Amino acid sequence: MARHRSRLVLAALACVLGAGLGARLAPAQEAGPGGGERLFSERGCAACHAILGPVPLLPVTERGAERGPALWDAGSKFRPAWLKAWLERPTPIRQVRYGTLEKGMNAHPALRAEEAAAIAAYFLTLRDPGVPAGLIPSGPPPKPVERRALILFLKKQPCYACHQVRIRKDQNVTPRVVGGFTGPSLVEAGRRLNADWVYAFLKDTPRYSPNGRMPFFGDRPETRFSEQDYRDLAAFVASLGAPDGKRGN
Ligand code: HEC
Ligand code: HEC
Repeated sequence: MARHRSRLVLAALACVLGAGLGARLAPAQEAGPGGGERLFSERGCAACHAILGPVPLLPVTERGAERGPALWDAGSKFRPAWLKAWLERPTPIRQVRYGTLEKGMNAHPALRAEEAAAIAAYFLTLRDPGVPAGLIPSGPPPKPVERRALILFLKKQPCYACHQVRIRKDQNVTPRVVGGFTGPSLVEAGRRLNADWVYAFLKDTPRYSPNGRMPFFGDRPETRFSEQDYRDLAAFVASLGAPDGKRGN
């Protein structure tokens, strides 16, 4: 009997020790994509973010139910360093469509550094095969590319009517933030977005934004861009707000 009890005590001790060990191991287990995927569902992120895509075209009446941007292509879209930093300290990107987050409703959930790293690692596995790899050179675009892209962005199409950007509209003035609020801010696009993703997004906008209000410029002869236009615009957008040569990767 006494022996039996001591065995019980031993088993209980092993349990306590095991639990302690488990708790100490937990952060290590959370690291990496597997842990990130688990955290994503435990934290209720899926209530607002679709991770399966491409997202289908919804009837107009159901579009309002979309609570946050889809993340099925997050691994192709975002720069890893930006992703981790934003998850720790989220700041508004879309001023209007999801503006409820900042005004009145609660702010976006913020994560601890190790949680942000694990979820960012998970997001990086969500790749879109439709995005070419290494087509658009990264780094600041050469001056002629930048000049052509600026004309496309400001004059050929009114991109800045819907997107905020910090640009120099005139060589003699310091760059300042201009633009509308309908689309996500592109002020930090160079730290946030991958150039190849921007190219794929502009070339096939309905695939990435079937329910959004980003117009598709490729379907009408008067607004169609040439292949060079798409490349120049993508290189330009994906360099906005990135200090020369130091793009947040
Ligand atoms: C209540 C709904 C809601 C929940 C819950 C939520 N998000 Fe969000 N999330 C949003 C909205 C709305 C935005 C857009 C914010 C903006 O543009 O300013 C956003 C933006 C993001 C972005 C940037 C996406 C982009 O396209 O710029 C990431 C990454 C993200 N959320 C990850 C997460 C993770 C990880 C969780 C779980 C810890 C989470 N979200 C929980 C609503 C939510
Ligand atoms: C009528 C307003 C409008 C115009 C004009 C417009 N956009 Fe957009 N754009 C949007 C909206 C709205 C979204 C968000 C789409 C979504 O989330 O489904 C968007 C998304 C984007 C994105 C993806 C950003 C992100 O964070 O997801 C890029 C890049 C972009 N636009 C570039 C451009 C360029 C380049 C032009 C000009 C050729 C342009 N836009 C013209 C409204 C506009």
